[in-house]
Amino acid sequence: MSPSIQVCPDLPALLTVAQAAIAQIIVSTVQSQGSCSIALSGGSTPKPLYEALSREALPWEHLAIFWGDERYVPPDHPDSNQRMAREAWLDQVPIPGDRIFPMATSAADPATAAAAYEQVLRQALQTPPPDIPALDVILLGLGDDGHTASLFPHTAALQVHDQLITVGEKSGQPRLTFTVPLINQARHVIFLVSGTNKQAALSQIFATAADANQYPARLVCPQGQLLWFLDAAAAQGLPENLQSA
Ligand code: 6PG
Repeated sequence: MSPSIQVCPDLPALLTVAQAAIAQIIVSTVQSQGSCSIALSGGSTPKPLYEALSREALPWEHLAIFWGDERYVPPDHPDSNQRMAREAWLDQVPIPGDRIFPMATSAADPATAAAAYEQVLRQALQTPPPDIPALDVILLGLGDDGHTASLFPHTAALQVHDQLITVGEKSGQPRLTFTVPLINQARHVIFLVSGTNKQAALSQIFATAADANQYPARLVCPQGQLLWFLDAAAAQGLPENLQSA
């Protein structure tokens, strides 16, 4: 399925459109299958989106919340993606606690934590090996270096195809991350990208040819729907035809 690209004038407009789209996917997914699994992104872009989603009237008890990546810090650490999402959204809405599945980061070895989260995911989505669980929604951001989740350029995580969760690495710091096969099994993958600092990476990601090891977001080609929500600052420089896709 070819990607759908929506360019909005600014970040507030991007968040409004993305919020409506995500809410609609959640409602329709719950209506059709009784539940909706969604993996959250970290970073700064999605925080106001999470705050806005907390004000929606959604079928909270039918959601299952996961994280697409996590910094390897305690859950109360300022850098924790879990902490950010709980404070901005999850603590404000009646999602049952046993429907929220954070990436545990207490194991001494991050590889142990990655394997543990794989089991959590398989159990929650009732998908034993060798099948790959299909999440209903995966939210992703884009780094100015072209990374997404914690799949950073030229790291071993990009080549992991026999696991669902692996250990990523940014500047020597370990992170837990969805692998490419898990991301690409999703029914809806949604990128939120804002700011002029993302222009260069975006142009490489949408280029006809570029090195996916240098720009890992190029590896995201889901079997389901791929939605890009960009603001004009990030999208400047993309070919006109792409901006109306
Ligand atoms: C993280 C994210 C990461 C993020 C990008 C963009 O844990 O930081 O998962 O992939 O989405 O780095 O971050 P910003 O939204 O802050 O630009």
